[in-house]
Amino acid sequence: MNPVQVPPAPPVTLVLFGASGDLTRRLLVPAMINMTRLGLAKDGLRILGVGIEPGDGATLRKALDDFTPEAGGEGAVEKGEAWKQLRSRIDYIQGDFTADAVYRQIAEWIAHASTGNAAFYLAVQPRFFGDIVDKLADNKLLDETPTAFRRIAIEKPFGQDLPSARALNARILKRVSESQVYRIDHFLGKETVQNIMTARFANMMIERLWTNDCIDHVQITAAETVDVGTRGKFYDSTGALRDMVPNHLFQLLAMVAMEPPNSFDAEAIRDEKGKVLRAIRTYSPEEAARSGVRGAYAAGKLDGTAVPAYTEVPNVAGDSSTETYVALKLLIDTWRWAGVPFYLRTGKVMAARNTEVVIAFKPVPFAQFGKTPAGSLPANRLIIHIQPDEGLSMDILIKRPGLAVDAVPVNLDFHYADRFDIAHQVGYESLLYDLFIGDQTLFQRADAIEAGWAAVQPFLDLWAASGKPDLYAPGSLGPDSADELLARDGRVWHELAAQVPKP
Ligand code: BG6
Repeated sequence: MNPVQVPPAPPVTLVLFGASGDLTRRLLVPAMINMTRLGLAKDGLRILGVGIEPGDGATLRKALDDFTPEAGGEGAVEKGEAWKQLRSRIDYIQGDFTADAVYRQIAEWIAHASTGNAAFYLAVQPRFFGDIVDKLADNKLLDETPTAFRRIAIEKPFGQDLPSARALNARILKRVSESQVYRIDHFLGKETVQNIMTARFANMMIERLWTNDCIDHVQITAAETVDVGTRGKFYDSTGALRDMVPNHLFQLLAMVAMEPPNSFDAEAIRDEKGKVLRAIRTYSPEEAARSGVRGAYAAGKLDGTAVPAYTEVPNVAGDSSTETYVALKLLIDTWRWAGVPFYLRTGKVMAARNTEVVIAFKPVPFAQFGKTPAGSLPANRLIIHIQPDEGLSMDILIKRPGLAVDAVPVNLDFHYADRFDIAHQVGYESLLYDLFIGDQTLFQRADAIEAGWAAVQPFLDLWAASGKPDLYAPGSLGPDSADELLARDGRVWHELAAQVPKP
């Protein structure tokens, strides 16, 4: 089958609030270079950076020139001709996001660029989200016409908890319609996350088994080897739960657990995702205490390098009770998932960088292979490898060659890299393209954001009230209490593929 060709995005001015920040340099601009090279963005793409740092277009262009993406690492794009083309269409305005003057300049710039269409990308601190939307609306920058769209893309974190997320949604939706709001969760830009839907709904042999009849439990892991490093200020008021669970891990959970949408239309998919997130059981404080574990890394070594304890990280309180690791057992109250626990875990400075979903099937009900009873045969597993080694693998049993009837587990393994060239994608290409063409499938709707926060709120409340995270050693798989969480159910975490962490 030939790949489906997509047309280039329409002309658009991308107004980038927070243009001098890390996200612009590391991911957004590399993604637009890739889009230019692939013919997905043409001359009509104009970029206007807005930031509080002094400078002009030449300063921003120079800063982007000097940024050399690490070879083979994230953002490793080939700059070449595509960068030359894109570079000439980048400009910058310095200004205070809360002052009207800068919005008048933006309006003039957009009028001058004559693309008509504009997308405002908020890669700024969350405290500015509401103010920027208000100012854009006050200055009539969000008024659409039949020939010119106006859209807003908002980075995470969207709120700090359920009440703040609700308040932010209400504030934004007073000024623009939901169809203009693109709430980013960069996990949805990952090929393998998008592939979950294809793996399920394009394969009879997968989707037919996708219920509590056949599935014993699901494990969703986002293990990281990075430490908190220079992000102490942000991280200490956030923690692993807020940083990773209601957003990234719940995107994976929603893809795995949603019902088949009746079309691949954005609203049909977002309806199903919203429904399943709302079906996550909201725990009582006692249930939350039994179903959640938090950890913080102690001082130690990771791959031979000394790692200071989390509480010694600059800008982290010495007596901080913020978690850098979290493991949860969640239940989804639907016919399909009744009785199937979803175990989620994520943490910093763990033994390996590995994001994956493990579907653990039930053991066969009966089998007699020589003297091997059914109970001792390992159950099938389907593993969706999100990163770093994108792919799909399956543990099945086969007969060991020989005279005796002996079943042995083997692994069927598919690696994306063996078949496709995805190494140079930074993960924001599809998100930006969809923002420009107006496809909201890969963006979070207000109801899904609020459902995610509602599900984790009992843990936030419980942990804010008392207690401290359990300590774990750098390079480990988290605190012992996380193993106990599964051991109480007679289960174990999936072993993580050992991996040499990035320096
Ligand atoms: C971000 C979190 O949203 O996602 C980080 O704030 C985390 O703490 C990152 O490291 C993980 O994303 P990825 O794509 O590197 O797995």
